[in-house]
Amino acid sequence: MARFNHDIVIVGAGLAGLRAAVEAADQCDVAVISKLHPLRSHSGAAQGGICAALGNEEEDYPLWHAFDTVKGSDYLGDQDAIEVMCNDAPRAIQEMEHYGVPFSRTKDGKIAQRPFGGHTRNYGEAAVRRACYAADRTGHVCLHTLYEQCIKRKVRFYSEFQMLDICETDGVVCGIVAYEIRTGDIHIFNSKAVMFATGGYGRAYKTTSNAHANTGDGLAIALRHHIPLEDMEFVQFHPTGLYRLGILVTEGARGEGGVLRNASGDRFMERYAPTVKDLAPRDMISRFMYQEISEGRGAGPKKDYINLDLTHLSLKQIESKLPEISTFAKIYLGVDPSKNPIPVQPTCHYAMGGVPTNVDGRVVIDEKNTVMPGFWAAGEVACVSVHGANRLGTNSLLDLVVFGRRAGKDMVQFVKETKGKMPIQSDADKYVKEKLSAVLARNTGEPVGKIREELQQTMMDNVSVFRTEETLSRACLEIKKLRERAKNTVVNDKGKEFNTDLLDALELDHMIDYSQTLIESAYNRKESRGAHAREDFKTRDDQNWLKHSLCWMDESGHTQIGYKEVNMKLSQENAKFVPKERKY
Ligand code: FUM
Repeated sequence: MARFNHDIVIVGAGLAGLRAAVEAADQCDVAVISKLHPLRSHSGAAQGGICAALGNEEEDYPLWHAFDTVKGSDYLGDQDAIEVMCNDAPRAIQEMEHYGVPFSRTKDGKIAQRPFGGHTRNYGEAAVRRACYAADRTGHVCLHTLYEQCIKRKVRFYSEFQMLDICETDGVVCGIVAYEIRTGDIHIFNSKAVMFATGGYGRAYKTTSNAHANTGDGLAIALRHHIPLEDMEFVQFHPTGLYRLGILVTEGARGEGGVLRNASGDRFMERYAPTVKDLAPRDMISRFMYQEISEGRGAGPKKDYINLDLTHLSLKQIESKLPEISTFAKIYLGVDPSKNPIPVQPTCHYAMGGVPTNVDGRVVIDEKNTVMPGFWAAGEVACVSVHGANRLGTNSLLDLVVFGRRAGKDMVQFVKETKGKMPIQSDADKYVKEKLSAVLARNTGEPVGKIREELQQTMMDNVSVFRTEETLSRACLEIKKLRERAKNTVVNDKGKEFNTDLLDALELDHMIDYSQTLIESAYNRKESRGAHAREDFKTRDDQNWLKHSLCWMDESGHTQIGYKEVNMKLSQENAKFVPKERKY
């Protein structure tokens, strides 16, 4: 075991982690720890864009962007945080451009912008071109650019190190415990500031656009340290995953003019969202797709998918603006999108909930937003909350760079103010060592993969786009049984080097912990809002439920629910966006 010391330890090398590292590296000694090589981080899978009211292609303003984000969130997003993000967006894009992001361009050389779901002109009048993009590889180019910036600033990377715990002394976070995947050694990283940028948890679902690494490790580790998870019931299903595979087909395809059609070729979104049609927010489109399917209008022999039609776009447009999804459709489904529509279905895509933070990325631990010293989070693992009950497409990459930077700045400030020695937890690796030994000591039991598959199926069947008391009760029972069974899994590889079987077992425990908070928060919320559609409580209930859920978990897996107020105030005195029925 080695002990490493850094001023700042950032866990996760996606855009939030890298942007924080870039911010802090000139003034502090920064380490980034990642279970993958940084360039394999899931931010690289983001396709369609990163939004800002630049107004390059048509009139636009940050306040319109903020309005759309609040409305898109079904009024659960914190308006102060949304305002911070939307106001900072034009600066953030310009900065990314200067760092080297090769954005697609307009004819006169400005950053090109395309329309995206829920982004509108003049408070809902029509769709607006707000998404800046690099063909359909926007996340990929942003990730490479920020990685280069980190290398330039001599950020220290520890790649293929899996975080297994945080170090905590008297309520102060002072480092992490990590498992070196190459050697099987456990190491302690001491630091004055720890930041989670560990991403989302889509792998808890059978059909997902998320990478295999997205097992919500940060969420489970936060829970173990008595930090609640906020708004876990809100899980985004992206309308266009490749049929049966879930691989993302960017909303940018609809931004470029693609349309959704049912079996009879009817462009059904015209009926449901007459103003923005196929560019309505994702929660709504996913529901309407399932409605078409359940009413017998799905396409294909089993009538279980919807067609994404790009055949009316020019080949030049497809090749220059949508090359990646075009290749995916050809490789995985044998469909050439210039000739035939792409079969799609909703796919688990994004977690609106997560570790609660304030706008500087500081982790907060209760209803009163009490800060946990030494601890920051940003990106999908965090809940600021700018996405509330439903995120708008392209607000995710924006969230990563805006709040990654803010967390980086705040950590630098904290490090400078924290004089003297770093606190040290002397027995920091005890829990992890005992846990690993217990798993490896079992020679018989169920395979980890079997339990993981059952978990993914349970979540898919009971806690996806539509939920009811019955499905959620079933999921509550199932998750408890899976928790018991997971105590008796067997890991056949007893070696130390690249023991991915062992990591699978640890990830399964993480998946069970946060899935339980998700299920129970969903069971508890007796209304429909954003991505949480209860068939037994069909409407939004602002009287009783305009509040964030918090869910704590104790050592034995029992949960406790609490609530936190939604911030409904913009910075201008008495200004706010008042909740209204969401129509598009
Ligand atoms: O459809 C997409 O390109 C996804 C973008 C996002 O989730 O923000």
